[in-house]
Amino acid sequence: MKPYIISLGLLEILILKGTWAGSHSMRYFSTAMSRLDLREPRFFSVGYVDDQQFVRFDSYSESQRMEPRAAWMDKVDQDYWERETQMSRKAAQSYCVGLENLRSYYNQSETGVHIIQHMYGCEIFPNGSFKSGFEQYAYDGKDYICLNSETYSWTAIDPQAVNSKRKWEERSISEKEKAYLEETCVLWLHKHLENGKELLLRTDPPSVRVSRHSGPDGEVSLRCRAQGFYPAEISLTWLRDGEEQLQDTEFIETRPGGDGTFQKWAAVAMAPGQEDRYSCRVQHEALAQPLSLRWEPEAPSVWVIVGVTAGVLVLVTAVVAGAVILRRRNSGGKGGAYVPAAVCRETTSTEGQMGLEMSPPSC
Ligand SMILES: *[C@@H]1O[C@H](CO)[C@@H](O)[C@H](O)[C@H]1NC(C)=O
Ligand SMILES: *[C@@H]1O[C@H](CO)[C@@H](O)[C@H](O)[C@H]1NC(C)=O
Repeated sequence: MKPYIISLGLLEILILKGTWAGSHSMRYFSTAMSRLDLREPRFFSVGYVDDQQFVRFDSYSESQRMEPRAAWMDKVDQDYWERETQMSRKAAQSYCVGLENLRSYYNQSETGVHIIQHMYGCEIFPNGSFKSGFEQYAYDGKDYICLNSETYSWTAIDPQAVNSKRKWEERSISEKEKAYLEETCVLWLHKHLENGKELLLRTDPPSVRVSRHSGPDGEVSLRCRAQGFYPAEISLTWLRDGEEQLQDTEFIETRPGGDGTFQKWAAVAMAPGQEDRYSCRVQHEALAQPLSLRWEPEAPSVWVIVGVTAGVLVLVTAVVAGAVILRRRNSGGKGGAYVPAAVCRETTSTEGQMGLEMSPPSC
């Protein structure tokens, strides 16, 4: 949550000179939801440093406290939790009022369920200095108002938002936002990066595989699948004869693997027989150079051979199976130990967002 008051203890961070490989960000996603049964609205907030959730608050939780969601948060002192909890409880109250106000701007009845979403945060350059700030609101899933991070003025995206804009301008809210986004937010981001550096500043290179799939109409596609990488930022490109193929390429969104790393794939369609003209290029912070991979037809599996021979020589089966087990052991259980569970597992790191992540700031 936004601590407008900078505690003195933080000043030392000002002189802490961080040098990090990439840009970093701290973001909060808050959601306030009115209820059909006219109970108090639910207020829910989650904080992220880069792709790692680190705090959350839920007004419907028993404790009604800001809670840590990352191990490195045990390095912050008790004052932090008190302050964050107080601010979150206050925010819950003000969203309660906010939901009422917006309901009246839109002439909506008291009985509907409505949602305010709020996203804000800051980004820093690799040298640690402020890069950008952003803040925006949505109402019932539509963009409502956003802060122009250069002029620090509010842009009413929805016509009803002029009401909010007027109120906030009267109360000079955007000056506080500027101070928060450019200073407080950056200070805390530095502090979190320092506390959680083992996790936040690590880079895990992607493991990449290319597989071939054929469709019912005889079309063929090659899929380039990257797994196990961190941070989430990655670029997968299919090239044909060295030329980028954007049009025929299908991507999925980068998604959490459930173990703190990320996964993504890109597939390209082609006529059969063209496979060797294609290569997949992978760029990621953890790779010194881009990877380039092609589809390689698999050698006949050991099990096919076993199957053919089994009827004749049962002994061979045992030897081959033994060899396979040995090979797995020798490679530390990793080689060939493809784990489909990670692919199918429900995401855990976005659960807090309830799928409410908003689009990037548009002003
Ligand atoms: C709400 O009602 C008022 C008065 O009837 C009207 O002027 C206004 O345009 C209405 N707003 C919306 C969003 O329908
Ligand atoms: C940090 O890096 C950015 C972008 O590379 C640059 O504009 C800025 O001047 C740098 N700041 C400092 C304090 O070196």
